[in-house]
Amino acid sequence: MTTPRINPGSTIGVLGGGQLGRMFAMAARRLGYRVHTLAPEHDTPTGQIADVEVVASYDDVDRVRAFAREVQVVTFEFENVPAAAAAAAAEVTFVRPSGAALEVAQHRIREKRFLTQHGLPVAPFAEVRTEDDLRAAVHAIGRPSVLKTAALGYDGKGQVAITEGVDPIEAWGQLGRAECVLEAFVDLEREISVIGARGVDGATSFFEPFDNTHRHHILDVTVCPADVPANVAFDAIEITRTVLEQLEYVGILCIEFFVTRAGKLLVNELAPRPHNSGHLTFDACRTSQFEQQVRAICGFPLGGTDLLQPAAMVNLLGDLWADGEPNWAAALAMPDVKLHLYGKASPRPGRKMGHLTVMAPTATHAKERALAARRLLVSGHAVRALQ
Ligand SMILES: Nc1ncnc2c1ncn2[C@@H]1O[C@H](COP(=O)(O)OP(=O)(O)OP(=O)(O)O)[C@@H](O)[C@H]1O
Ligand SMILES: [Mg+2]
Repeated sequence: MTTPRINPGSTIGVLGGGQLGRMFAMAARRLGYRVHTLAPEHDTPTGQIADVEVVASYDDVDRVRAFAREVQVVTFEFENVPAAAAAAAAEVTFVRPSGAALEVAQHRIREKRFLTQHGLPVAPFAEVRTEDDLRAAVHAIGRPSVLKTAALGYDGKGQVAITEGVDPIEAWGQLGRAECVLEAFVDLEREISVIGARGVDGATSFFEPFDNTHRHHILDVTVCPADVPANVAFDAIEITRTVLEQLEYVGILCIEFFVTRAGKLLVNELAPRPHNSGHLTFDACRTSQFEQQVRAICGFPLGGTDLLQPAAMVNLLGDLWADGEPNWAAALAMPDVKLHLYGKASPRPGRKMGHLTVMAPTATHAKERALAARRLLVSGHAVRALQ
């Protein structure tokens, strides 16, 4: 069976309005597509680049259906779209990845069940819906562990550590007694991620693993290549391939992994969209994760994913604005620095405002240069916020 290609000149619909959609829209436009975006806010990072910005709630299935009617394929930059919205869009056009894949990836319990069923490694966990469940879970999993809401978590929101002395019932109260998983705390050597794509024809393609460092549960620095043994990189890619195939996935998927001190790979979570750890692909890989998403969902061959040179990406959070406008000129005076900003008006602490990418002969060198550039952006209070 041949699947019709969605040719350049067609329109792609993006549900979500953040920076992932913005960079996706840039890639789509470069390939000659038009882009419509739907999100609850006005003048979003995606909306600033799109041809058409629709301001509507994801719960408004009639608006979502009407939006989908205007485009040839719908994709996501934000995964917490209600199943009903994905289903409404699927009534009138292609939705890639599918609502079924989204449902697995947007809910930690469904995600962990799916992974376990397919024999993929995850940290020990237990499902929590009642106080009895929680007591049994703490007994089974032990401490330290992490209680995470099943739905709607990001950047460490919706998580509480269950350490010695913490009352689990109280901790659960902080999470609004929502459906949760209790997960064993992993003794981490490092965190890596793999971004893979699967096309309409079932072909797959992978970027080599990214090495990720978090601060306060938010991604801070990514470098590539990751400093992991070849067999760990291989296994991480094979796990990603299994997930793509088992979900009959079309589009870009990122898997976040823990590498334990014993060298074991565990799946942390799935992101059914481009991912912050793949931002360096924009500058450092033959095809960016965003272009790959366009190719995958439009039925085209996937692009080469080779890393052109070792690279590092550092996130720019709103904290950098503590002393006023960052000193862009100082960072841009470094000829190897690429600056990306997302067009967000209010730089709140912890908010992802942009990133810097540097390519260099080694990943270590690239990381040092990227961190140096970020330090040059700020002085005084903001420097202290970075420490
Ligand atoms: N079980 C664990 N053991 C050790 N560290 C953990 C564990 N769970 C989470 N963390 C740390 O917290 C970070 C965020 O956790 P997780 O990825 O589950 O949250 P999130 O809120 O969904 O984040 P995001 O969607 O922004 O990636 C992880 O990348 C890791 O650094
Ligand atoms: Mg995560």
